[in-house]
Amino acid sequence: MSPFLLTRTLPEDATGAALRADVLRGLTATPKTLPPKWFYDARGSELFERITGLPEYYPTRAECEILADRSAEIAAATGARTLVELGSGSSEKTRHLLDALDGLHTYVPVDVSGSALTLAGQALVAERPGLHVHALIADFTAALALPATPGPRLVAFLGGTIGNLLPDERAAFLTSVRALLSPGDALLLGTDLVKDEKVLVRAYDDAAGVTAAFNKNVLSVVNRELGADFHADAFDHVALWHAGREWIEMRLRSRTAQTVKVPALDLAVDFAAGEELRTEVSAKFRREGVRAELAAAGLDLAGWWTDGADRFALSLSTAH
Ligand code: SAH
Ligand code: TRP
Repeated sequence: MSPFLLTRTLPEDATGAALRADVLRGLTATPKTLPPKWFYDARGSELFERITGLPEYYPTRAECEILADRSAEIAAATGARTLVELGSGSSEKTRHLLDALDGLHTYVPVDVSGSALTLAGQALVAERPGLHVHALIADFTAALALPATPGPRLVAFLGGTIGNLLPDERAAFLTSVRALLSPGDALLLGTDLVKDEKVLVRAYDDAAGVTAAFNKNVLSVVNRELGADFHADAFDHVALWHAGREWIEMRLRSRTAQTVKVPALDLAVDFAAGEELRTEVSAKFRREGVRAELAAAGLDLAGWWTDGADRFALSLSTAH
């Protein structure tokens, strides 16, 4: 069995410092916000895995269908020997790519969730003798130091996770990904597509309430890490479509007027009855928009594939 390497590029206490800075900025802003990367502690990663199996949450199945149909084509086009995957989570869908990439030497899953990386990485090395797995606990919005492995390199960013970044964050992110690519390397990007509003809203407000629990999990993270006294039951999960921005916005709406204490920040935060805290956006895309955002970062669209129902797209791009 090849060794499974797990490297932490985030210092242990950097997480705490970044969380404190983000929560202080977000809870004192108008309107109040909390940034999405804090959803994914061990329980958050587990809840997200349950979301991917919900009948209403189509993106995972749609993207998996494209990967099953097109991985051979993607493998032939890239000939990748190193596959880097940003926000890899369970690495479930990635199996199609790992199967198709004949000459693959190393798989580098990158995630903020150490628990997800350990579970996924250990299963992969046990299943695939000969494959090197070098997992990185890192924030993909910060500068990434990738291990020195053989090229060509394929960087995959699946799940529509790019839609969880705001437009200016997306531009900065794509520019930094572009900087990781040498001639012959490529980016494989998964983007959820604009579609009927009812289908979109249902995907983020499921009948079983798993997405509501996932959204509220960020409050448990702040309680545990910063000693806050958020009561999950005092907030309602809200998912709505912002037609102008073409994104789903996730919020937590305070049921009553209440004050939440955050001792680690020496902060007391007042919520009015009905006041909403924005926790996440999930932008939806069109082909022309994806092409333009890639081009602005120095990337040329070289391939575009959708599932049979045109719900989700995978694009392949190369550096120019
Ligand atoms: N790629 C998987 C998981 C998507 S969920 C899929 O398509 O199903 C988003 C993943 O990105 C989670 O595993 C989360 O832990 C990770 N993530 C979110 N923000 C991150 C950040 N800033 N840096 C690194 N990983 C991040
Ligand atoms: N990348 C996923 C998406 O935008 C993340 C996600 C799914 C999510 N459901 C959510 C994030 C609910 C917050 C709340 O589809």
